[in-house]
Order: sequence, then C-alpha cells, then structure tokens
Amino acid sequence: MSKFRFAVLASGEGSNLQALIDEVHRRGVASLVLVLSDNEGAMALERARLASVPAVALPPLPREGRKSYHQRVGKVLAAVEPDLIVLAGYMRLLPPEFIAAMPPIINVHPSLLPAFPGLHAPLQALDYGAKITGCTVHLVDKGMDTGPVICQEALPVLPADTADSLHQRLKSLEHAALVRVVKAFALGKVKIIGRKIELEEDTDGNQDSVNQCI
Ligand code: GRF
Repeated sequence: MSKFRFAVLASGEGSNLQALIDEVHRRGVASLVLVLSDNEGAMALERARLASVPAVALPPLPREGRKSYHQRVGKVLAAVEPDLIVLAGYMRLLPPEFIAAMPPIINVHPSLLPAFPGLHAPLQALDYGAKITGCTVHLVDKGMDTGPVICQEALPVLPADTADSLHQRLKSLEHAALVRVVKAFALGKVKIIGRKIELEEDTDGNQDSVNQCI
C-alpha cells in the first residue's frame, strides 16, 4: 500500500472516481483514504463502498452556508490526513479558508480552460460552435475553474455530437488525465511554485508521462 494518501470529493456518477480506484488505488500507486459526497444518493459513494474505500455522505444542513458546510467537510477530511484532495465531479465552490487549510486540491473539468468554465461545459462548447474542446486538470483556487492548469488534452467536436455524446468522449479523456496527474503527485513529481506547476523529468532524462498531456 502506498504511503501517499488522497481523498476524493464527488457529487454524482463517479466515473472519474472509478478510474482513480482502478488505476491508482488498486494498483498501489497511492491510497484512496476517503470518498466524501454532499449527495447521499451519489453513485460515487456506492463505487467507493464496492472498493472497500471509506465513504461518507455529508449533505449540507437546511440553509447551511458554504463556509459552515465546508468547515464540517474539512474536519472529516483532516481526520484522514490526505496529501492531496481530488474534486471528481464535486458540484460546490470551495471557500478560500477551506482551500488555505487543506493540502493541494485538484479538479477535473470537461473543457480546455479558460474556455467554458462552470456548468454544462460540453453544451457550452457545442453552442459556441467550437471545433475542438478537451479536458483540464487544474489546481483549485477560490474562483470557478480558474486555478493553474496542470494538464490538458484536446478532442475534436464531431458534427453529429450532442452534449451527451461529447461529454461521454470527454470523460474518457478526463479519466486518463486525472489518473496521470494523481500518479505524478504520488511519485512526488509535481512542484507548485505560486501559479506555476513544474513536473520533474525521470532520472534517465525521459519526460514523465504526465508531460505528454501538456
Ligand atoms: C466530469 O465531466 C467532471 O469534469 C465534471 O463533472 C463530471 C463528473 O463526472 N466536473 P463523474 O461523476 O466523474 O462521472
């Protein structure tokens, strides 16, 4: 079992979480120590339970503010001492105090940021008439999908694409990119210097595989 510990926040289907379970956790590259969801019915929680990963449903209380809710989330996370937090389809904006108190937090988004931030990015790309879109893994800051980019991969938009078909193809790209980035963190190859992200080369001079998607 790897010593590098990561936690995942997810609100929905959890296909990105599944990729991390299969390609990172089960392969012993890093240990997934907690999956937390704000949505009791999230399939992500079921995926965690099936993999024997601790799964916590923590819905916000009625009229509970973002700050108070994330103080509770922060306590649960702090107890498992993660080295990295991954937002994998987590549908809430994090307050700055939470980000400051936590280890690095990364997010995966289905567009080439800064294009099409926020909700329904594949639909935004279609409506705009974009011919190429893609996915981004980035560090989380206090903005909506504004943090420093770690990894991006591009994908052509096909004439017959619907928002759903495009999103499904983007998700396959997201899974691979997210797995590469979490592995790079686990291997100590990611250096964060302000807004600049440096990815170390292998000792034999080869570029680390994470660099292929930059
Ligand atoms: C992904 O497209 C992710 O980029 C976005 O929400 C979606 C979550 O998908 N933030 P899943 O729950 O991982 O299947």
